[in-house]
Amino acid sequence: MTDHNRTVCIITFGCQMNKLDSEVMRAELAGAGFGLTEEPDEADVVIYNTCSVRQHAEDKVFSHLGAWRRRAQEDENFVLGVVGCMAQRLGAELTQRFPFLKLVCGSRAFLRVPEHLRAIMRGEGPVLDIGWDGPLRFARDPRMRRSAHSAYVSIMRGCNNFCSYCIVPHVRGREVSRAPEDIAQEVRALAADGVREITLLGQNVNSYGTDAGKPGLADLLARINGVAGLKRIRFVTSHPKDVSAELLRAVAGLDKVCEHLHAPPQSGSDAVLRAMNRGYSAADYRKMVEQARRIIPGVELAGDFIVGFPGESEDDFRLTLELLREVRFQQSYIFKYSPRPGTRAALLEDDVPASVKRERHRLMLAAQERVDTERRRAMVGSVVEALVDGVSPRDPTKLTGRTRANDIVVFEGPCELAGQLVNVRLVDSTALTLFGHLAG
Ligand code: SAH
Ligand code: SF4
Ligand code: F3S
Repeated sequence: MTDHNRTVCIITFGCQMNKLDSEVMRAELAGAGFGLTEEPDEADVVIYNTCSVRQHAEDKVFSHLGAWRRRAQEDENFVLGVVGCMAQRLGAELTQRFPFLKLVCGSRAFLRVPEHLRAIMRGEGPVLDIGWDGPLRFARDPRMRRSAHSAYVSIMRGCNNFCSYCIVPHVRGREVSRAPEDIAQEVRALAADGVREITLLGQNVNSYGTDAGKPGLADLLARINGVAGLKRIRFVTSHPKDVSAELLRAVAGLDKVCEHLHAPPQSGSDAVLRAMNRGYSAADYRKMVEQARRIIPGVELAGDFIVGFPGESEDDFRLTLELLREVRFQQSYIFKYSPRPGTRAALLEDDVPASVKRERHRLMLAAQERVDTERRRAMVGSVVEALVDGVSPRDPTKLTGRTRANDIVVFEGPCELAGQLVNVRLVDSTALTLFGHLAG
């Protein structure tokens, strides 16, 4: 059998960076002569690109892998693989638990997947590659992207922050920034291929450039802002301790950069923030928000929170709830603390009972839902700029788009508007959606 009639299905878990890695891997595989499919049952090779950030993320993959046992045992040509963060973290433990796994390839070695697959198909046995010496290449085939008009662009890999709860620095390694010219070139290629919005990706984009003495994020944004055809620029994730006035001024001054910061507070309690090794206090966070709102009129913030961190008291939790209500985030992602082996926090006793974590999680979600409802209701009557995604998946008679603040907006209009910027007058809202009519 040649590679040409081998089809590969990649199933992706985890963050945007993982989704982008899967796009890069697909391009590599296609370039190496493999076929691609979205249907795992039709594939000769099924690869899971995995996440280790919480136990739940790993458990989902374990149950998927278990479900392939029968096919793996009956069909000797079938190849099952795990790549990404779980492969990096667990390595040989994965093959011990699932002996029918033929490929385990870490988060730095994933570009070698095509060559490993060929070796497996030549009968050279299973491959375990969790080396840190893999090739670093950020660019990908511009056609391999999640949507016609939007694309992710990686500007760095890894993280140096070592927040005490977080596995990411352990499974992704240290920060490596991509050359600005390489980024600009990819953005130009994407724009030429119809992309109107790009999202620059990194675990901590504020430290872009610092590892290599390259220009920082503010300079990078200025450079990309000039790319013809491109209409919007976003970037994630910002670390609150590294959000500089220079960056805020760049966001305010560059017309394509959206007024939206994803800067996760994680907690509103200084004791918890210290134990998390976040490098700022709740007061510092509030100051950052205040400065952002002063420099960038209309800026919206998104945040992540962890509830039930070791030692989090009822009072600590109340401070977090208060911060969420006070800042009025455009969006909040709320997680229950999950100990990750090998991290510093895993040495602490996971002493907040599951039922308390659940209750705190519920209270945070309810508080955010209230903010969502009120925030969107207050926007009704105004006119917003929307980038049209296309036909609404919920209602084929409507279009859907995103505002600069990343809110979903639904309205009537011809599907030819996909990929264009339009003005929408808002007439109604729910907690998570704005509704309106095209406005001249
Ligand atoms: N680099 C990004 C994303 C990190 S992972 C950042 O710094 O924001 C995404 C989110 O998962 C984190 O912001 C945090 O809220 C959450 N998270 C990370 N480790 C976790 C853990 N052990 N338990 C629960 N949530 C966790
Ligand atoms: Fe994890 Fe902290 Fe790095 Fe984000 S900044 S990836 S939470 S260690
Ligand atoms: Fe998960 Fe790895 Fe991303 S641990 S959050 S897939 S960097």
